[in-house]
Amino acid sequence: MKVLVTGASGLLGREMVSMYRARGVHVVACDSAVLDVTEESLVREFISSEAPDLVLHCAAYTAVDRAESEPERAFATNLGGAQNVAQACAATGAHLVYFSTDFVFDGCSETPYGTDDEPRPLSVYGKSKLAGEEAVAGAGGQWTTVRSSWLFGATGANFVSTILERARGGAPLRVVDDQRGSPTWARDLAGTTADLIDIGATGLVHVTNGGTATWYELARSALEVAELEADLQPVSSEEWKAAAVRPRDSVLDVGETEALLGRSLAPWPEALRAFLTGGAA
Ligand SMILES: NC(=O)c1ccc[n+]([C@@H]2O[C@H](COP(=O)([O-])OP(=O)(O)OC[C@H]3O[C@@H](n4cnc5c(N)ncnc54)[C@H](OP(=O)(O)O)[C@@H]3O)[C@@H](O)[C@H]2O)c1
Repeated sequence: MKVLVTGASGLLGREMVSMYRARGVHVVACDSAVLDVTEESLVREFISSEAPDLVLHCAAYTAVDRAESEPERAFATNLGGAQNVAQACAATGAHLVYFSTDFVFDGCSETPYGTDDEPRPLSVYGKSKLAGEEAVAGAGGQWTTVRSSWLFGATGANFVSTILERARGGAPLRVVDDQRGSPTWARDLAGTTADLIDIGATGLVHVTNGGTATWYELARSALEVAELEADLQPVSSEEWKAAAVRPRDSVLDVGETEALLGRSLAPWPEALRAFLTGGAA
């Protein structure tokens, strides 16, 4: 099997590359300098000449707040890029895995969001990712869309790493305590995605770590596990005043995924501990 990873230098892309390489699979790792997914002819020619069996499309515009003032860039990457990759995969017969987000939902549901629930994104980022989902489903190829949430891991400006860095620097921390989601270790998302592909899962699937938290609860747990003292205060979304509106409760229902896999997904506190005590933080 040959796997091509877009966005290979990002948080999830790196985990995907190392996980498949550790399994002995031939991986073509493409960062944005090698494969800009917004370049339609480049994407078509690159995927056609590499002829991968599986494309893990991890490239995305992920700056949720900045997207509010740069909607064209967000859509160019998250819709245009997904469309280019999906069409190239459909043309060559490669199976495409597209990653999407809990931010396609408005967060007003009383219960976790299932794959049949109607998306209603509140932000430019959420709208652009949903548009990408639709492009992938409409391209005529074989696809799996994996929605996940609240990723943390070893690379980039992710929430857990940022909190720990600021705490180490002695900065006071104000963290939103009225948004709820399922924190997810990028490494667990990579492994579960590979397991789902191995068993032939197609269509829309939800993959997160188990359990839920607010950003404040996640920050508090990260500080506890890392044994760091910090001045940590909960604040409301209204006080925090982010540019993008985020869902209040965007927990994804992973019951179908667990049934497919025949196992439970690891609870986020366990995943957080494994990440922070494994020397990866
Ligand atoms: N992070 C989360 O909490 C979260 C939650 C749910 C779903 N997701 C989804 O999971 C996927 C991976 O996210 P992530 O957290 O790994 O994001 P990330 O760390 O920001 O990585 C995204 C990667 O995409 C690359 N990229 C951006 N524009 C590109 C372009 N035009 N062509 C090629 N590559 C481009 C970036 O490269 P450069 O840095 O060189 O631009 C970066 O390496 C995304 O689809 C995201 O929407 C993320």
